[in-house]
Amino acid sequence: MRDLLAAVHALRERLGEIPQADERRLQDLKTEILGRKAGALTKILGDLPKLQPADRRSVGAAANVLKRDFEAAFAARERDLARASRATVGLDPTMPGRPSWRGGLHLVTQVVAEICDIFRELGFTRAVGPEAETEWYNFGALNFPKDHPAIDVQDSFYLADGLLLRTHTSPVQVRTMEQYRPPIRVVSPGQCYRRDPFDPSHAPVFEQVEGLVVDEGVTFVDLKATLSAFARQFFGPHTATRFSPSYFPFTEPSADMQVSCSVCHGAGCPTCKQTGWMEILGSGMVHPAVLENCRIDPEHYSGFAFGMGPHRIAMVRHGIPDIRLFFEGDVRFLAQFSGEGAP
Ligand code: PHE
Repeated sequence: MRDLLAAVHALRERLGEIPQADERRLQDLKTEILGRKAGALTKILGDLPKLQPADRRSVGAAANVLKRDFEAAFAARERDLARASRATVGLDPTMPGRPSWRGGLHLVTQVVAEICDIFRELGFTRAVGPEAETEWYNFGALNFPKDHPAIDVQDSFYLADGLLLRTHTSPVQVRTMEQYRPPIRVVSPGQCYRRDPFDPSHAPVFEQVEGLVVDEGVTFVDLKATLSAFARQFFGPHTATRFSPSYFPFTEPSADMQVSCSVCHGAGCPTCKQTGWMEILGSGMVHPAVLENCRIDPEHYSGFAFGMGPHRIAMVRHGIPDIRLFFEGDVRFLAQFSGEGAP
């Protein structure tokens, strides 16, 4: 009996180990002391029936109080450990909040809008046409000879039944002249498609802005004055323009327009390939055959047309080296131009 009472007292000493125990040690201690088979206290309680009734009562009372103390100590330590682990993985209310993202317009969308705004101030309205076109609107009505290489399936995306994805926005010239009589002044933005490799300066889908003016007495001077006014408005008042001979089946004469480099102002830099000039559009006087195809009398009316690529224009304005950046959707790139976006 004395032994058992001494064992109870000895066991009580071990209560002191519990507040320091980690998760593992706590489980071991529980098994060691309260384990159903070999627990030290369980054994003492199991030996009680062997004692005299009087001893059984006193030892039993001490052992049961100790059992309650152990259970309380284990429970308290378990609560502490649980609270500590919640604190490390849980919410930190002092952490600054994440700013939410706000969308912005894609740079090319902004450039298209800006181009159309400038022409609106010059008296142009906006026209649109379908992206799936017939060969007639895309080529035939625009005076392409039947064997022109652009008509080749190598260069165009053909759909069923002689339909193709338009390779330029010029078919909108034809649709506009069919629908409206002169005077005509329209710009027409939209997507175009070509079987081009996806490389730093080509994309199989790209934006164009087409322009068309038809009226009595329209001359090449009107073409130059209008497009130069546009260039000064878009690139800045000191922008110089120059026109060089070019060729398109639907304009005669045809001219490409170059502007003085907006990055180096003509001094020479990588954006203009050290030439001081950047080519931004193709243009020309509407070919009499095209006017005739649209039942407009070329003896009475004349006009000019132009087509520019907003992707290219955005690249030369901002010195962007690779057209593919516009299509990758990397917010770190796009947000530089949208004023919004990734924080
Ligand atoms: N459609 C021509 C192209 O895609 C551009 C252009 C439009 C040229 C209008 C002259 C007049 O290259």
